Amino acid sequence: MNTEAIATEHATRLSSVDPLLPHSDPLAGPDAAHEDFRVIIGDSGALGFAVRSEVDRNSGDSLWRALVEHRLLLRFAGPQPGECLAEILRQWDEYLTDTVRAGDWDAAAVVPRPSRDPAGSAELLRHGFAPVRVLAVRPADRLAAAGPPAEPGVRIRPAEPGDLATAVGLYAELQRYDAEFGSVTLRANATELLTAGMARELDRHEPTIWIAELYGRPLGLLQIQYPADTGWITPYVSAERVGYLSSLHVAEAARSSGVGSALAAHAHQLFDESGVDAVLLHHALANPTSTPFWYGQGYRPLWTYWHRRPAVLAHSERAAETNSLRKRLS
Ligand SMILES: CC(C)(COP(=O)(O)OP(=O)(O)OC[C@H]1O[C@@H](n2cnc3c(N)ncnc32)[C@H](O)[C@@H]1OP(=O)(O)O)[C@@H](O)C(=O)NCCC(=O)NCCS
Repeated sequence: MNTEAIATEHATRLSSVDPLLPHSDPLAGPDAAHEDFRVIIGDSGALGFAVRSEVDRNSGDSLWRALVEHRLLLRFAGPQPGECLAEILRQWDEYLTDTVRAGDWDAAAVVPRPSRDPAGSAELLRHGFAPVRVLAVRPADRLAAAGPPAEPGVRIRPAEPGDLATAVGLYAELQRYDAEFGSVTLRANATELLTAGMARELDRHEPTIWIAELYGRPLGLLQIQYPADTGWITPYVSAERVGYLSSLHVAEAARSSGVGSALAAHAHQLFDESGVDAVLLHHALANPTSTPFWYGQGYRPLWTYWHRRPAVLAHSERAAETNSLRKRLS
Protein backbone atom coordinates (compact mmCIF):
# COMPACT_ATOMS: atom_id res chain seq x y z
CA MET A 1 0.00 0.00 0.00
CA ASN A 2 1.59 3.31 -1.05
CA THR A 3 1.10 6.91 0.08
CA GLU A 4 -1.36 7.69 -2.69
CA ALA A 5 -3.52 4.61 -2.02
CA ILE A 6 -3.73 5.51 1.70
CA ALA A 7 -4.62 9.14 0.95
CA THR A 8 -7.30 8.13 -1.60
CA GLU A 9 -8.98 5.61 0.71
CA HIS A 10 -8.86 8.11 3.56
CA ALA A 11 -10.55 10.82 1.48
CA THR A 12 -13.22 8.41 0.20
CA ARG A 13 -14.06 7.27 3.74
CA LEU A 14 -14.33 10.86 5.02
CA SER A 15 -16.69 11.91 2.25
CA SER A 16 -18.99 9.03 3.17
CA VAL A 17 -18.91 9.56 6.96
CA ASP A 18 -19.67 13.29 6.92
CA PRO A 19 -21.06 15.31 4.00
CA LEU A 20 -20.09 18.56 5.76
CA LEU A 21 -16.37 17.77 5.65
CA PRO A 22 -14.53 19.65 2.89
CA HIS A 23 -13.26 17.78 -0.18
CA SER A 24 -9.66 18.82 0.36
CA ASP A 25 -7.86 18.53 3.68
CA PRO A 26 -7.82 21.99 5.34
CA LEU A 27 -4.88 20.98 7.51
CA ALA A 28 -2.59 19.79 4.73
CA GLY A 29 0.07 22.39 4.07
CA PRO A 30 2.27 22.69 0.99
CA ASP A 31 4.45 19.78 2.22
CA ALA A 32 1.55 17.32 2.38
CA ALA A 33 3.10 15.14 -0.33
CA HIS A 34 5.93 14.16 2.05
CA GLU A 35 4.69 12.41 5.13
CA ASP A 36 6.89 12.26 8.23
CA PHE A 37 5.60 8.86 9.28
CA ARG A 38 4.32 5.97 7.19
CA VAL A 39 3.30 2.66 8.76
CA ILE A 40 1.99 -0.36 6.88
CA ILE A 41 0.67 -3.36 8.78
CA GLY A 42 -0.83 -6.11 6.60
CA ASP A 43 -3.50 -4.51 4.44
CA SER A 44 -3.72 -1.36 6.62
CA GLY A 45 -1.69 1.81 6.39
CA ALA A 46 -1.39 5.21 8.05
CA LEU A 47 0.39 8.44 7.22
CA GLY A 48 1.38 11.07 9.75
CA PHE A 49 2.43 14.66 9.09
CA ALA A 50 4.07 16.48 11.99
CA VAL A 51 3.60 20.26 12.01
CA ARG A 52 4.84 22.84 14.51
CA SER A 53 2.84 26.02 15.06
CA GLU A 54 3.95 28.88 17.32
CA VAL A 55 2.26 32.16 18.24
CA ASP A 56 3.73 35.21 19.93
CA ARG A 57 2.80 35.77 23.59
CA ASN A 58 1.74 39.30 22.61
CA SER A 59 -0.78 38.09 20.02
CA GLY A 60 -4.51 37.74 20.69
CA ASP A 61 -4.27 34.07 19.62
CA SER A 62 -2.04 33.33 22.62
CA LEU A 63 -5.10 33.66 24.89
CA TRP A 64 -6.79 30.64 23.32
CA ARG A 65 -4.00 28.10 23.05
CA ALA A 66 -0.52 26.99 24.10
CA LEU A 67 2.20 29.14 22.53
CA VAL A 68 3.64 26.10 20.76
CA GLU A 69 1.48 23.39 19.27
CA HIS A 70 2.95 20.23 17.80
CA ARG A 71 0.23 18.91 15.51
CA LEU A 72 -0.05 15.46 14.02
CA LEU A 73 -2.21 15.15 10.89
CA LEU A 74 -3.32 11.64 10.07
CA ARG A 75 -4.57 9.58 7.16
CA PHE A 76 -5.71 5.99 7.49
CA ALA A 77 -6.60 3.10 5.22
CA GLY A 78 -7.56 -0.50 5.88
CA PRO A 79 -9.22 -2.36 8.74
CA GLN A 80 -6.54 -1.82 11.45
CA PRO A 81 -6.01 1.93 11.80
CA GLY A 82 -5.40 1.62 15.57
CA GLU A 83 -2.35 -0.64 15.19
CA CYS A 84 -0.85 1.70 12.58
CA LEU A 85 -1.54 4.77 14.70
CA ALA A 86 0.07 3.15 17.76
CA GLU A 87 3.34 2.89 15.82
CA ILE A 88 3.08 6.46 14.48
CA LEU A 89 2.42 7.79 17.99
CA ARG A 90 5.41 5.84 19.31
CA GLN A 91 7.68 7.46 16.72
CA TRP A 92 6.16 10.92 17.21
CA ASP A 93 6.56 10.59 20.99
CA GLU A 94 10.24 9.79 20.53
CA TYR A 95 10.63 12.98 18.51
CA LEU A 96 8.65 15.07 21.04
CA THR A 97 10.53 13.66 24.02
CA ASP A 98 13.82 14.62 22.36
CA THR A 99 12.78 18.13 21.33
CA VAL A 100 10.19 19.49 23.81
CA ARG A 101 10.90 20.46 27.43
CA ALA A 102 9.02 18.03 29.68
CA GLY A 103 6.26 19.67 31.74
CA ASP A 104 6.10 22.86 29.61
CA TRP A 105 2.45 23.99 29.87
CA ASP A 106 2.94 26.24 26.85
CA ALA A 107 3.75 23.30 24.57
CA ALA A 108 0.81 21.10 23.55
CA ALA A 109 0.59 18.05 21.32
CA VAL A 110 -2.58 18.25 19.22
CA VAL A 111 -4.18 15.70 16.91
CA PRO A 112 -7.08 17.14 14.88
CA ARG A 113 -9.57 14.49 13.71
CA PRO A 114 -12.83 14.65 11.76
CA SER A 115 -15.38 14.09 14.54
CA ARG A 116 -17.31 11.39 12.66
CA ASP A 117 -14.20 9.36 11.81
CA PRO A 118 -13.39 7.86 15.21
CA ALA A 119 -10.63 5.56 13.88
CA GLY A 120 -7.70 5.55 16.30
CA SER A 121 -9.49 7.24 19.23
CA ALA A 122 -8.67 4.44 21.68
CA GLU A 123 -5.00 4.64 20.70
CA LEU A 124 -5.00 8.40 21.34
CA LEU A 125 -6.43 7.79 24.82
CA ARG A 126 -3.73 5.17 25.48
CA HIS A 127 -1.10 7.79 24.64
CA GLY A 128 -2.47 10.34 27.09
CA PHE A 129 -4.56 12.43 24.67
CA ALA A 130 -8.07 13.68 25.48
CA PRO A 131 -10.73 15.20 23.19
CA VAL A 132 -10.50 18.82 24.36
CA ARG A 133 -11.80 21.17 21.71
CA VAL A 134 -14.45 20.89 19.02
CA LEU A 135 -15.18 22.86 15.89
CA ALA A 136 -18.97 22.53 15.71
CA VAL A 137 -21.22 23.31 12.76
CA ARG A 138 -24.84 24.37 12.36
CA PRO A 139 -26.18 24.21 8.80
CA ALA A 140 -28.48 27.11 8.00
CA ASP A 141 -31.49 24.86 7.41
CA ARG A 142 -31.08 23.00 10.72
CA LEU A 143 -34.30 22.65 12.70
CA ALA A 144 -33.74 23.14 16.42
CA ALA A 145 -35.97 23.87 19.41
CA ALA A 146 -35.73 27.52 20.42
CA GLY A 147 -34.47 27.00 23.98
CA PRO A 148 -35.89 28.63 27.10
CA PRO A 149 -37.69 31.97 26.66
CA ALA A 150 -35.66 34.99 27.81
CA GLU A 151 -36.74 36.77 30.98
CA PRO A 152 -38.90 39.77 30.25
CA GLY A 153 -36.78 42.94 30.39
CA VAL A 154 -33.83 41.51 28.43
CA ARG A 155 -32.69 43.78 25.60
CA ILE A 156 -30.06 43.00 22.99
CA ARG A 157 -28.17 45.94 21.48
CA PRO A 158 -24.98 46.48 19.47
CA ALA A 159 -21.97 47.29 21.64
CA GLU A 160 -20.58 50.81 21.25
CA PRO A 161 -17.08 52.22 21.87
CA GLY A 162 -18.29 53.30 25.35
CA ASP A 163 -18.90 49.59 26.18
CA LEU A 164 -15.21 48.70 25.88
CA ALA A 165 -14.63 48.08 29.60
CA THR A 166 -17.90 46.09 29.93
CA ALA A 167 -17.10 43.94 26.89
CA VAL A 168 -13.54 43.28 28.11
CA GLY A 169 -14.87 42.42 31.60
CA LEU A 170 -17.39 39.88 30.22
CA TYR A 171 -14.78 38.43 27.87
CA ALA A 172 -12.29 38.04 30.72
CA GLU A 173 -14.96 36.17 32.73
CA LEU A 174 -15.48 33.81 29.77
CA GLN A 175 -11.71 33.23 29.58
CA ARG A 176 -11.43 32.48 33.31
CA TYR A 177 -14.28 29.98 33.05
CA ASP A 178 -13.05 28.27 29.87
CA ALA A 179 -9.45 28.07 31.13
CA GLU A 180 -10.46 25.09 33.28
CA PHE A 181 -11.02 23.00 30.16
CA GLY A 182 -7.64 22.91 28.49
CA SER A 183 -7.15 25.34 25.59
CA VAL A 184 -7.57 28.83 27.01
CA THR A 185 -4.42 30.08 28.69
CA LEU A 186 -4.69 32.80 31.33
CA ARG A 187 -1.92 35.30 30.62
CA ALA A 188 -0.66 38.28 32.58
CA ASN A 189 -1.22 40.58 29.57
CA ALA A 190 -4.77 39.27 28.86
CA THR A 191 -6.56 42.53 29.71
CA GLU A 192 -4.23 44.50 27.46
CA LEU A 193 -4.68 42.04 24.56
CA LEU A 194 -8.46 41.79 25.01
CA THR A 195 -8.78 45.58 25.20
CA ALA A 196 -6.81 46.07 21.97
CA GLY A 197 -8.82 43.38 20.14
CA MET A 198 -12.20 44.62 21.39
CA ALA A 199 -11.37 48.26 20.62
CA ARG A 200 -10.65 47.27 17.01
CA GLU A 201 -13.98 45.42 16.78
CA LEU A 202 -15.96 48.27 18.36
CA ASP A 203 -14.51 50.62 15.80
CA ARG A 204 -16.06 48.75 12.87
CA HIS A 205 -18.87 50.23 10.86
CA GLU A 206 -21.05 47.07 10.99
CA PRO A 207 -21.49 45.81 14.57
CA THR A 208 -19.93 42.43 15.40
CA ILE A 209 -20.35 42.60 19.19
CA TRP A 210 -23.73 42.63 20.92
CA ILE A 211 -24.66 43.12 24.54
CA ALA A 212 -27.64 41.67 26.42
CA GLU A 213 -28.94 43.97 29.14
CA LEU A 214 -31.40 43.29 31.91
CA TYR A 215 -33.00 46.57 33.00
CA GLY A 216 -29.93 48.43 31.74
CA ARG A 217 -27.38 46.12 33.39
CA PRO A 218 -25.04 44.36 30.90
CA LEU A 219 -25.00 40.62 31.54
CA GLY A 220 -24.35 38.93 28.20
CA LEU A 221 -21.93 39.27 25.30
CA LEU A 222 -22.03 37.92 21.75
CA GLN A 223 -19.32 38.28 19.13
CA ILE A 224 -19.65 37.09 15.53
CA GLN A 225 -17.76 37.13 12.23
CA TYR A 226 -19.56 37.60 8.92
CA PRO A 227 -18.50 35.65 5.79
CA ALA A 228 -16.16 38.47 4.66
CA ASP A 229 -13.97 37.70 7.72
CA THR A 230 -14.21 33.91 7.93
CA GLY A 231 -11.71 32.95 5.20
CA TRP A 232 -9.44 31.49 7.91
CA ILE A 233 -12.03 28.88 8.99
CA THR A 234 -14.10 28.32 5.79
CA PRO A 235 -11.75 25.55 4.47
CA TYR A 236 -12.84 23.33 7.38
CA VAL A 237 -16.42 22.88 6.13
CA SER A 238 -18.12 22.04 2.89
CA ALA A 239 -20.13 25.27 2.64
CA GLU A 240 -19.70 28.44 0.63
CA ARG A 241 -20.84 31.26 2.90
CA VAL A 242 -19.68 30.62 6.42
CA GLY A 243 -20.42 32.57 9.60
CA TYR A 244 -18.33 32.17 12.75
CA LEU A 245 -19.69 32.61 16.24
CA SER A 246 -16.57 33.84 18.05
CA SER A 247 -17.95 33.99 21.58
CA LEU A 248 -21.02 33.98 23.76
CA HIS A 249 -20.95 34.63 27.46
CA VAL A 250 -23.63 35.20 30.10
CA ALA A 251 -22.77 36.44 33.61
CA GLU A 252 -22.99 33.56 36.08
CA ALA A 253 -25.89 35.00 38.07
CA ALA A 254 -28.02 35.35 34.92
CA ARG A 255 -27.45 31.89 33.41
CA SER A 256 -30.24 29.40 32.65
CA SER A 257 -32.82 32.15 32.22
CA GLY A 258 -32.88 32.30 28.42
CA VAL A 259 -30.34 35.09 27.86
CA GLY A 260 -27.87 32.80 26.04
CA SER A 261 -30.67 31.42 23.82
CA ALA A 262 -31.81 34.97 22.99
CA LEU A 263 -28.24 35.97 22.00
CA ALA A 264 -27.79 32.79 19.93
CA ALA A 265 -31.14 33.40 18.16
CA HIS A 266 -29.96 36.94 17.46
CA ALA A 267 -26.71 35.64 15.92
CA HIS A 268 -28.58 33.09 13.79
CA GLN A 269 -30.95 35.76 12.54
CA LEU A 270 -28.00 38.00 11.54
CA PHE A 271 -26.35 35.07 9.77
CA ASP A 272 -29.60 34.15 7.98
CA GLU A 273 -29.98 37.75 6.80
CA SER A 274 -26.47 37.64 5.35
CA GLY A 275 -27.18 34.39 3.47
CA VAL A 276 -24.86 32.14 5.47
CA ASP A 277 -24.92 28.39 4.58
CA ALA A 278 -23.32 27.19 7.82
CA VAL A 279 -22.20 28.64 11.15
CA LEU A 280 -19.06 27.36 12.87
CA LEU A 281 -17.87 27.79 16.44
CA HIS A 282 -15.19 26.37 18.73
CA HIS A 283 -16.04 25.13 22.18
CA ALA A 284 -14.35 23.18 24.94
CA LEU A 285 -15.83 19.70 25.10
CA ALA A 286 -15.61 19.45 28.91
CA ASN A 287 -17.36 22.82 29.44
CA PRO A 288 -20.58 21.73 31.21
CA THR A 289 -22.51 24.82 30.12
CA SER A 290 -21.45 25.34 26.51
CA THR A 291 -21.51 21.72 25.27
CA PRO A 292 -25.20 20.98 26.08
CA PHE A 293 -26.15 24.52 25.13
CA TRP A 294 -24.67 24.40 21.60
CA TYR A 295 -26.01 20.94 20.83
CA GLY A 296 -29.46 22.10 21.96
CA GLN A 297 -29.08 25.03 19.58
CA GLY A 298 -28.61 22.81 16.52
CA TYR A 299 -24.81 22.52 16.37
CA ARG A 300 -22.94 19.23 16.07
CA PRO A 301 -19.26 18.25 16.09
CA LEU A 302 -17.33 18.55 12.80
CA TRP A 303 -13.67 18.45 13.93
CA THR A 304 -12.42 17.16 17.29
CA TYR A 305 -9.01 18.26 18.60
CA TRP A 306 -7.29 15.70 20.81
CA HIS A 307 -4.79 17.38 23.14
CA ARG A 308 -1.98 16.29 25.38
CA ARG A 309 -0.84 19.23 27.43
CA PRO A 310 1.98 19.47 28.31
CA ALA A 311 3.07 17.80 25.05
CA VAL A 312 5.63 15.87 27.06
CA LEU A 313 4.54 15.07 30.58
CA ALA A 314 6.98 15.85 33.39
CA HIS A 315 7.48 12.19 34.25
CA SER A 316 8.70 11.68 30.67
CA GLU A 317 11.93 13.49 31.59
CA ARG A 318 13.36 10.20 32.76
CA ALA A 319 12.27 8.58 29.47
CA ALA A 320 14.12 11.33 27.58
CA GLU A 321 17.28 10.72 29.60
CA THR A 322 17.03 6.97 28.98
CA ASN A 323 16.52 7.67 25.25
CA SER A 324 19.56 9.88 24.93
CA LEU A 325 21.66 7.46 27.01
CA ARG A 326 20.56 4.61 24.75
CA LYS A 327 21.49 6.70 21.68
CA ARG A 328 24.92 7.54 23.11
CA LEU A 329 25.63 3.89 23.89
CA SER A 330 24.50 2.55 20.50
C1 LIG B 1 -23.30 28.70 27.54
C2 LIG B 1 -24.05 29.95 28.05
C3 LIG B 1 -23.68 31.12 27.15
C4 LIG B 1 -25.55 29.70 27.97
O1 LIG B 1 -26.22 30.87 28.41
P1 LIG B 1 -27.57 30.82 29.28
O2 LIG B 1 -28.07 32.18 29.41
O3 LIG B 1 -27.32 30.05 30.53
O4 LIG B 1 -28.47 29.98 28.27
P2 LIG B 1 -30.07 29.71 28.34
O5 LIG B 1 -30.60 30.12 29.68
O6 LIG B 1 -30.69 30.32 27.15
O7 LIG B 1 -30.13 28.15 28.17
C5 LIG B 1 -29.56 27.33 29.15
C6 LIG B 1 -30.35 26.10 29.42
O8 LIG B 1 -31.27 25.73 28.36
C7 LIG B 1 -30.83 24.57 27.69
N1 LIG B 1 -31.08 24.77 26.26
C8 LIG B 1 -30.63 25.78 25.51
N2 LIG B 1 -31.11 25.65 24.27
C9 LIG B 1 -31.88 24.56 24.26
C10 LIG B 1 -32.68 23.92 23.27
N3 LIG B 1 -32.74 24.42 22.04
N4 LIG B 1 -33.36 22.82 23.60
C11 LIG B 1 -33.30 22.33 24.84
N5 LIG B 1 -32.57 22.89 25.83
C12 LIG B 1 -31.88 23.99 25.53
C13 LIG B 1 -29.37 24.47 28.07
O9 LIG B 1 -28.85 23.18 27.92
C14 LIG B 1 -29.43 24.93 29.51
O10 LIG B 1 -30.02 23.98 30.36
P3 LIG B 1 -29.83 24.07 31.99
O11 LIG B 1 -30.29 25.44 32.44
O12 LIG B 1 -30.66 22.98 32.48
O13 LIG B 1 -28.39 23.90 32.22
C15 LIG B 1 -23.70 30.26 29.54
O14 LIG B 1 -23.93 29.12 30.32
C16 LIG B 1 -22.27 30.72 29.76
O15 LIG B 1 -21.99 31.90 29.65
N6 LIG B 1 -21.36 29.78 30.11
C17 LIG B 1 -20.00 30.15 30.45
C18 LIG B 1 -19.23 30.70 29.29
C19 LIG B 1 -19.22 29.75 28.12
O16 LIG B 1 -18.93 28.60 28.27
N7 LIG B 1 -19.55 30.29 26.95
C20 LIG B 1 -19.54 29.53 25.72
C21 LIG B 1 -18.19 29.50 25.16
S1 LIG B 1 -18.16 28.56 23.67
